[in-house]
Amino acid sequence: MTPADLLEAAQQARSYALCSYSGFAVGAALETSTGQVYSGCNIENASYGLTVCAERVALWKALSEGVRRFTRIAIVTGANDLTPPCGACRQLLWEYTGDIEVILGNLQEQSVVYRLSTLFPHPFGAASLQN
Ligand code: THU
Repeated sequence: MTPADLLEAAQQARSYALCSYSGFAVGAALETSTGQVYSGCNIENASYGLTVCAERVALWKALSEGVRRFTRIAIVTGANDLTPPCGACRQLLWEYTGDIEVILGNLQEQSVVYRLSTLFPHPFGAASLQN
């Protein structure tokens, strides 16, 4: 799968976003080490605080099916500026996917690739508890 394919999967997932409160639709596509793709969209709720980000929906889908090894995640929003994952999602991606590639894209076909460690330097993680 090319980065463009993964971005397309994220864009497709974005079309399912339940985001009537913010109007900000997000799609994510998480690639496993065997080339499978788990996608997610953001799911908002009238209580607001129960909203789940697209990245976490994709991650929970994969983890709950027993997948443990990942290579990349693509994230697509409709913003002009490419949108990185929120802090909470960075924390969770770090713990469960490690230092994967994070591909950001928008609807103008712009994209950029980061390593998660660049977006999330000096992380708190399981190893921090052992010190
Ligand atoms: N959102 C995501 O899905 N992923 C992020 O990394 C940032 C924010 C969603 C949550 C909410 O539904 C909307 O975008 C506005 O914050």
